[in-house]
Amino acid sequence: MADMYSKEVMDHFMNPRNVGEIKDASGVGEKGNPTCGDIMRMFIKVGKKPSSGGQGMEEVIEDIKFQTFGCGAAVATSSMITEMVIGKTLEEAEKISNNQVAEALGGLPPIKMHCSNLAADALHDAIENYKKSK
Ligand code: FES
Repeated sequence: MADMYSKEVMDHFMNPRNVGEIKDASGVGEKGNPTCGDIMRMFIKVGKKPSSGGQGMEEVIEDIKFQTFGCGAAVATSSMITEMVIGKTLEEAEKISNNQVAEALGGLPPIKMHCSNLAADALHDAIENYKKSK
């Protein structure tokens, strides 16, 4: 069974990064997976840094944590996405798709691709939640 997963997937599944909750989160996202009924919650902490263009400040994801009642592929994609977005601007984070996360993990079995939607959707939901709360 395990050999249908890449080394990266197994690593992120066995040692998931950034699991937990951010108590004073700037935004919280929650998504359910219609295919399997699993649930994902993502917490983001937004901060500011001088923009790369040298003009003004831009908003970046300073910290991110997740909690999931999902399967191994959901855990691995969430763990990977948290590592991909720390330090990124909100615009950059919004553009990250489930396909990019799956690629960064060295691929997912086709029947598990739906699991990677949870991570990307919950992240995008958390960013939207933050923007609405401003
Ligand atoms: Fe539900 Fe993978 S089976 S998230």
